[in-house]
Amino acid sequence: MTTTERLRDRIAAELERTRARTALLTDAVDDDDLVRQHSTLMSPLVWDLAHVGNQEELWLVRDVGGRDPVRHDIDDLYDAFKQPRKDRPALPLLPPAEARAYVRTVRDKVFDLLDGIRFTERPLVADGFAFGMIVQHEQQHDETMLATHQLRAGAPVLDAPPPPEPRARVGGEVRVPAGPFTMGTSTDPWALDNERPAHTVDLPAYLIDAAPVTNGQYRAFIADGGYDEPRWWSEAGWRHRVEADLSAPMHWRRDGDGWAHRRFGRWSAVRDDEPVVHVCWYEAQAYAAWAGKRLPTEAEWEKAARWDPATGRSRRYPWGDDDPTTEHANLGQRHLWPAPVGAYPAGASPLGVHQLVGDVWEWTSSPFRGHPGFVAFPYQEYSEVFFGDDHRVLRGGSFGTDRSACRGTFRNWDYPIRRQIFSGFRCARDAGPEE
Ligand SMILES: [Fe+2]
Repeated sequence: MTTTERLRDRIAAELERTRARTALLTDAVDDDDLVRQHSTLMSPLVWDLAHVGNQEELWLVRDVGGRDPVRHDIDDLYDAFKQPRKDRPALPLLPPAEARAYVRTVRDKVFDLLDGIRFTERPLVADGFAFGMIVQHEQQHDETMLATHQLRAGAPVLDAPPPPEPRARVGGEVRVPAGPFTMGTSTDPWALDNERPAHTVDLPAYLIDAAPVTNGQYRAFIADGGYDEPRWWSEAGWRHRVEADLSAPMHWRRDGDGWAHRRFGRWSAVRDDEPVVHVCWYEAQAYAAWAGKRLPTEAEWEKAARWDPATGRSRRYPWGDDDPTTEHANLGQRHLWPAPVGAYPAGASPLGVHQLVGDVWEWTSSPFRGHPGFVAFPYQEYSEVFFGDDHRVLRGGSFGTDRSACRGTFRNWDYPIRRQIFSGFRCARDAGPEE
């Protein structure tokens, strides 16, 4: 088999695997549910579905393939920049059956053009980049649709086995020695523009939590009056805490002396050893201050995840350069919530930091900016328009993130008030002189 044939096969397999997930998420509910807006933060599921097809048409059918448009008339409806999420239910969207037919037609054309493609030096097609970008885009919308499912009222429709039980005792902090490491990548073929280029970052010594902050730890913050003490919160954070009346993570409610949470339509007791999820950046920051720590910077997160002290190299993932398996991390909606701390010893980084990839997206203290030498590709709207102080970076992916959209260099970003996403965090602090 030639390199081209191997790459074609891999792309076809990734496209099919991804579409199966999209189908699962959209076939799980009836048509009324598909067109309904379950939260003003989210699109109707049927918008995500046709938007995924429209992006695939724009980039693969029209740009890479040079083919005629399938549906020129709907480009504006599915342009995320022209249509704010809150307004999307009022648009003349394709009804479910038409949306499904549209994405199928687009996909048939993509498979047709993939058959004859040559992966030339043109940056958009070299190494199959545009196909990888479209796979990642659909997977990211699948995670967004999963978050919509979590917000949806009504009987549960999604099922999955529970994540694995702890296989190692993990806790405390890990010391990361001072020194330079390589952040970002210039070589990962499907890495997106904001992950590039590779560059050296020199950091002082610090300590970082060996695991994400758990429900048990977070409950101690609540029980200690953490939500009533302005001193733990930033000024903006306290203002938001009061205005939004925050008193616990999203989807939690009191249950006798303890807490219960709602996950995809089912209530259950909050389990102490699972990473806390559905907290906003302000809550994460307040917890860290209460714990006498702080959030890690993005560079600190990445060094803890990728830097190998034995070789001085940065790995693609904490465990090495190989793609994730079920032994490494809780990814891809295989389970419907974060795994307890200690469940993935095979996924630890060389320094012994656990569960950096999968389980929960981890808030960092860093605003979203381009790496030094950043070049927008293939379009400014992918990430450059979001650079600045409005968004904070999240790293590592969640149980709802697919492996194709998650690497040691992968970057996500959101507003500091957002918590409908699968967001948690871990803490860090500066190393003292004798630490
Ligand atoms: Fe999109």
